[in-house]
Amino acid sequence: MSVVPHTTEETDASPEPISPSLRRVQGIASTALDRTKDATANALTASRQAWTKAAEVKRQAQRSLVAQRVATLADKTAAQTRQATAAAVVASRLGFARAAKLGRETVLPELGRASAKVRERTRPERLKQDWREFLLKWHANVGDKGIEKLSFTPTQAPVALEALTVKGPNRAHGHDYKPTPKLVFDWALAGVPEDFSKFSFVDYGAGKGRVMLLASQHPFTAVGGIEFAVELHDDATMNIAQFPRSRMKCRNVECVLEDAAALGPLDTQAIHYFFDAFSSQVFGEVLAGIIAAYREHPRRLYLILIGQEGGELAEESGVFKRIDLPVAERLRAKLFSPYEIAVYRSLA
Ligand SMILES: C[S@@+](CC[C@H](N)C(=O)[O-])C[C@H]1O[C@@H](n2cnc3c(N)ncnc32)[C@H](O)[C@@H]1O
Repeated sequence: MSVVPHTTEETDASPEPISPSLRRVQGIASTALDRTKDATANALTASRQAWTKAAEVKRQAQRSLVAQRVATLADKTAAQTRQATAAAVVASRLGFARAAKLGRETVLPELGRASAKVRERTRPERLKQDWREFLLKWHANVGDKGIEKLSFTPTQAPVALEALTVKGPNRAHGHDYKPTPKLVFDWALAGVPEDFSKFSFVDYGAGKGRVMLLASQHPFTAVGGIEFAVELHDDATMNIAQFPRSRMKCRNVECVLEDAAALGPLDTQAIHYFFDAFSSQVFGEVLAGIIAAYREHPRRLYLILIGQEGGELAEESGVFKRIDLPVAERLRAKLFSPYEIAVYRSLA
């Protein structure tokens, strides 16, 4: 196929003149086209609005469906909650009832027992007893260490009389062996304001001799002991024999194996020492001997009673009068002595 170039005659040809009727038709067509464009645009806008509305309606419908479901679910949950609450109330009532029953049956009695225990432990007498037990241990483990070290045969442990061989008829009236705490002895002796070099010292129921060893460290003219249990007397004798002489200010020390009620008192100025040795009956017999000797020969005598029954007999004798310990010793004894200390002096 050959390409034929346009002739310049065709390009340069002048346009044919438009007839008025054609121009009118063209005007009408243009107006119609414009109208059609406007109508189309309006229709498009209307259709978009309709779609938007329809979408909105659909969304609302969906929302209301969800709301309905939520409401249904809420109703269901509320019903379940009501049920659970009711069950919980019943259970808690039952729980309370059970707890109350349990409390009545177990906790209350236990509380009662505990408070009774507390009441018992804080009773003044009980507190006093606990304090006394503490003091006894303290004296044994601290205060008595020194004298115990110097004793050949240990004197600390208590010994029951029933296993021992006893001289005389007064076993039933005798008290078991236990030693005087060293500090208690010191406090009691401080209640005798005398020159000891003019006095004798006698321990009634001397046991293993601890008090005799303590007394021998003061310048008495003589230190005597009376013990009716053979085994204890032997221990006392051994302890006296083995005690360091350098410690003794009195070396005239002797323990006699005898019933205290059977032996007459010394005919000198003397301190008569009793530490929880025997019943007030035997004490009365011993005291009667001391008073008889005093009446024969009135002189300065002392009775030291530590935890010993029968103090009232001394008071009523008309021969002895109770005297106070010096203030410091009285205070120490009041606070730290497990035993009551009483000192009596003869009237002469
Ligand atoms: C509590 S101990 C005192 C021991 C010692 N006087 C002291 O303080 O370490 C009492 C002692 O008295 C003795 N005893 C009891 N009745 C006696 C009596 N009728 N004659 C002699 N000794 C007696 C007991 O054998 C016991 O050794």
